[in-house]
Amino acid sequence: MRKKIVAGNWKMNTSIAEGVELAKAIVAKVNEVPQGVSLIVAPPFTHLTSVAKVLEGSPVALSAQNCADQPKGAFTGEVAASMLKDAGCAYTILGHSERREYYGETAEKLITKIALAFENGLKVIYCVGEKLAEREEGNHFDVVSEQIASVLFGLTPEQMKKVVIAYEPVWAIGTGVTATAAQAQEMHAFIRETLGTHFGEKVAQETTILYGGSCKPSNAQELFACPDIDGGLIGGASLKADDFIAIAKSY
Ligand code: 13P
Repeated sequence: MRKKIVAGNWKMNTSIAEGVELAKAIVAKVNEVPQGVSLIVAPPFTHLTSVAKVLEGSPVALSAQNCADQPKGAFTGEVAASMLKDAGCAYTILGHSERREYYGETAEKLITKIALAFENGLKVIYCVGEKLAEREEGNHFDVVSEQIASVLFGLTPEQMKKVVIAYEPVWAIGTGVTATAAQAQEMHAFIRETLGTHFGEKVAQETTILYGGSCKPSNAQELFACPDIDGGLIGGASLKADDFIAIAKSY
């Protein structure tokens, strides 16, 4: 059985106090989440240690939203994977479309970041997804397979156990336009097939693949019912504990 995950990417939202309250509200309701569904929250860097204290002793795991492509040293403004581990993170998100688009995240940098995450005992939520124009041109499968091949194909099957993939079509992020369950399932099956051709069927079947992009309580059930969708990476709706928990309860 693949691991089912509902992860909240808080992006650049909440004060520390608000983040702590949000984490407390999630922990208070975690018992309502069906067995076998794991929760992860990814607050901003400044909130990590405070939120880690709230999560201590709970099954909710902590993730960062990014990490540096250098281990340490004179890299002003960056946060190293070792620091994230030190702050209590179990995961880091990498390759989010907002980072690819606004901060020049390249495949080369992502390969380095993943290696540093692993060296420091972090698992990785690796994001892929096409832009609207790419889908309209019919290139969405090529774009996603390239994002997977260029960054993940250098890993070993053993390392792939520490990777969760999140398919987030850029046109669905923060727009209120969700991919239909059929569109999402089609791409998730394609991603699994792509993993299978390189890593073999075992890795393909064992890799958790999340859907992200305007996922909310009203559409989560239909998405999560798809055979290749193993949960969600939730943006806006993860900022309300009730909505986040309701999404996780959609299983
Ligand atoms: P929204 O759920 O706000 O569309 O964001 C999705 C996302 O980018 C999660 O990483």
